[in-house]
Amino acid sequence: MGKITISTLDKMKASGEKFVCITAYDATFSRIISEVGAEAILVGDSLGMVLQGHDSTIPVTISDMAYHTQCVCRAEPKSLVIADLPFMSYTTTQQAMESATQLMQAGAHMVKMEGGTWLSDTISSLVERGIPVCAHLGLTPQSVNTFGGFKVQGRTPKEAKSILADAVEIQDAGASLVVLECVPSHLAADITRKLDIPVIGIGAGRDTDGQVLVMHDLLGLSQHTARFVQNFMEDQSSIAGGLRAFVDAVKAGRYPQEEHTYN
Ligand code: KIV
Repeated sequence: MGKITISTLDKMKASGEKFVCITAYDATFSRIISEVGAEAILVGDSLGMVLQGHDSTIPVTISDMAYHTQCVCRAEPKSLVIADLPFMSYTTTQQAMESATQLMQAGAHMVKMEGGTWLSDTISSLVERGIPVCAHLGLTPQSVNTFGGFKVQGRTPKEAKSILADAVEIQDAGASLVVLECVPSHLAADITRKLDIPVIGIGAGRDTDGQVLVMHDLLGLSQHTARFVQNFMEDQSSIAGGLRAFVDAVKAGRYPQEEHTYN
């Protein structure tokens, strides 16, 4: 696998080849995930839950994110490295610029932020200044308290319309990628079809251009997991085997199955 860029993912969307993203927070897993052929690594603020032991991503700081992004990038993975802007680190365009600068200087190739229409101006400003953006829509974990829990989003026609409108608007603002989390599969399919930019799903059905899972979940290490998670360590004798099994299953269309999706 050569060095993966956003152009690689654009071409994969165009040709209908599925791509894979896995979260990583350190150099060892960054190297292994790159070696098993995942096109993207997400330094997710999920680290607040799986590494730090919090019950949400809200306590994660920009310094935490910059530190773990440096650790991941030090392994020089071939995968595209996307790093999360944590809670309250992008409340204004100016603040987003400063926070995103820290992550890009830590080695990220792209930053991810949670939100739609309200982020349009911020996304345009970042992109104009050379910082590629991935927008996260649907169940955005930093808003868990607004949602009243980790709940599927987009089930009513009004919510579905609003998520679709957000997706179109952030594409128009210059975003390069979208993560869609915990939305009905028909909505994810519709958005994926309507957007020119690649869409990565998590709990969003089989029709998105790529799939992402939190590494600890797919390796069967998490205590509580959502319906969309599959333990890829079953039948595997090594961590690399489990990660490769996820990559292979996405590429072959064996994951996700109906049992992993919401309607
Ligand atoms: O932080 C994270 O790991 C994420 C994924 C759940 C998409 O945002």
